[in-house]
Amino acid sequence: MYEQFSHAVLNEILDGLDLDGELHELRPFLTRLGANFYGIHALFDTLYGEHPGAEDCRVRLVDTMARAYLARAPELRGLDLVRERDPDWFLSQTWVAMALYTDGFAGDLAGMPERLPYLQDLGVDIVHLMPMLQCPPGASDGGYAVSDFRAIDERFGTLDDLHEVAAELRKRDMLLVLDVVLNHTSREHEWARAAREGSERHRAFYFTYPNREIPDAYEETMPEVFPEVAPGNFTWDDELDRWVMTVFHGYQWDLDYSNPEVFVEMLDIVLTWANHGADILRLDAVAFLWKKIGTRCQNEREAHLILQLMKDCCQVSAPGVLFIAEAIVAPVEVIRYFGEDAVVAKECEIAYNATLMALLWDGVATRNARLLRAGLTNLPDKLPGATWLNYVRCHDDIGLGFSDADAHAAGYDPTAHRSFLINYFTGVFEGTPARGEPFGRNDKTGDARISGSLASLAGLESALESEDPERIDDAIRTIVLLHSIILSFGGIPLLYYGDEIGTLNDVSYLQDIGKANDSRWLHRPTIDWAKAERRHERDTIEARIFQQLKHLIAIRKRTPAFADDNDRTLVDVDNEHLFVYLRVPNQRAHAPVCVVANFDTDPQPLDHGALARAGVHERRELTDLVTGESLSVEGNHLWLPGRSFAWLVDRARR
Ligand code: GLC
Ligand code: GLC
Repeated sequence: MYEQFSHAVLNEILDGLDLDGELHELRPFLTRLGANFYGIHALFDTLYGEHPGAEDCRVRLVDTMARAYLARAPELRGLDLVRERDPDWFLSQTWVAMALYTDGFAGDLAGMPERLPYLQDLGVDIVHLMPMLQCPPGASDGGYAVSDFRAIDERFGTLDDLHEVAAELRKRDMLLVLDVVLNHTSREHEWARAAREGSERHRAFYFTYPNREIPDAYEETMPEVFPEVAPGNFTWDDELDRWVMTVFHGYQWDLDYSNPEVFVEMLDIVLTWANHGADILRLDAVAFLWKKIGTRCQNEREAHLILQLMKDCCQVSAPGVLFIAEAIVAPVEVIRYFGEDAVVAKECEIAYNATLMALLWDGVATRNARLLRAGLTNLPDKLPGATWLNYVRCHDDIGLGFSDADAHAAGYDPTAHRSFLINYFTGVFEGTPARGEPFGRNDKTGDARISGSLASLAGLESALESEDPERIDDAIRTIVLLHSIILSFGGIPLLYYGDEIGTLNDVSYLQDIGKANDSRWLHRPTIDWAKAERRHERDTIEARIFQQLKHLIAIRKRTPAFADDNDRTLVDVDNEHLFVYLRVPNQRAHAPVCVVANFDTDPQPLDHGALARAGVHERRELTDLVTGESLSVEGNHLWLPGRSFAWLVDRARR
């Protein structure tokens, strides 16, 4: 009944649209729309059925999808078809991603093409260009306070430059990732300006209130994202003469997704960037999309419905395009961004694995894998058709987002342990080699997060100062060890630019008044290309890191067990310093790989029997894919040097 009704609605909408001339061209679109319309219609009704603007917006929604399809370049439509036929295309082990700031990496977009060979040399084939859209100077949150969702900021170049980068990437079989900042706009966005100039329509794009009554009700349960520089979740705006919800900075106005117009506008922007050639869209801060008094205003059911609706619509106009969920939330919550109660991914296909990231850093500080194991045991399996972005560092801070229960399970007092980690990574803890800075300290809750480049957090900066070759060696080993896990864990590894050559903290941000109060700029570097060139010079720091990572990436790409067909299995080996897991390929013809990582700085024994019991091998002949060597088995133990790892296969099956 409902289905018939929805098709009647669809036909009525299509009849009303002025698409006659293009009906023939629209055929594939219409087929997909027919197939998805029931879902789209039902989601739309659930979210917006009661809203007075619903009927109008339903028509605009279909119109937006149709026009986006018509505007889509034939080449991209062709890619859509190829990917529709092979929907798991992105789960292959051949993908390796890097996130970078275009200005810090290449100066601007026009400088990007000539830097692509560098990325390819390393083995990177997915490139996330951090946000480049127009932002007000000084109040940009690193590109996440957008004042025009359709314009590239002139500091980076032009849309034509971007098209050229996209074409160049495609020529090289590389993928382009772009951000869409869904949750908020800059205060300088035209919608916010119009609201300030008195447009009721645009005021309804945001959450605004004449007095503190409703803001206070929200604040009872809403946490603070930037407690130091932007306390609270509302900002008084003199021009508007009202309070505005600003969950992030005061200049970032939260969009109100209970208004269907906001949804339609943002869908149009999502599809616009898909049409500019993005293969993958990183949807920023998706956990925050729905606000409800009495909740934390994160991970609400409606936020998921919005993403599902967004996905369904994108599936109709640009089905080859994937979504990344940037939801830095608890493991049980993250998994829902693949699709709440879904059996295959139906929301975002990819999600940041912040759990693994934070736990890896715990391993570095504690030199054991207790919390890492406890935390990952409780990380739910991902859905078919979904995958993780596994990363060690990114442009943001490190939040210690593990659960208290896991900390207890690992034998720690959660509060004491978190403060140990903060002290360890910010150089306060006696003897620590790490050089980070605190970020987002909250005196009310005692929380804090950590900023710093991978190399500085891993101890390279202090080791170089001490000129102690052993400490330098330890730091490099730590850097490579962390990468060895994201490259083998199951998911898409996401490297962060500069880490591949051991880039240290950059304190120049302190001179810039627009950045000085945000320590995340410590790890948003400008690449020193003379330093990068040293990757070709034997025994330099750069070569020692770059060449090892390049080697690991190459092995990953030819090892089918590292494809994302299955979840990994954690193996219990009765040595708290070791983190061990098994990757079993789908096809029996390919050999399973057992990953063993030693977080201790001293050598540690691996009980050989434990591997046999885990079914890693039958005989005592193991080969390490990384060194190509057979591992020496002394008695019942394999010895792993400090901060080292091995990717083990049964020699007979290699
Ligand atoms: C995301 C970005 C972060 C930004 C925030 C607000 O979390 O990664 O850098 O501050 O969104 O847009
Ligand atoms: C919080 C948010 C995340 C954002 C980060 C920026 O963790 O959940 O989205 O990236 O803050 O520091």
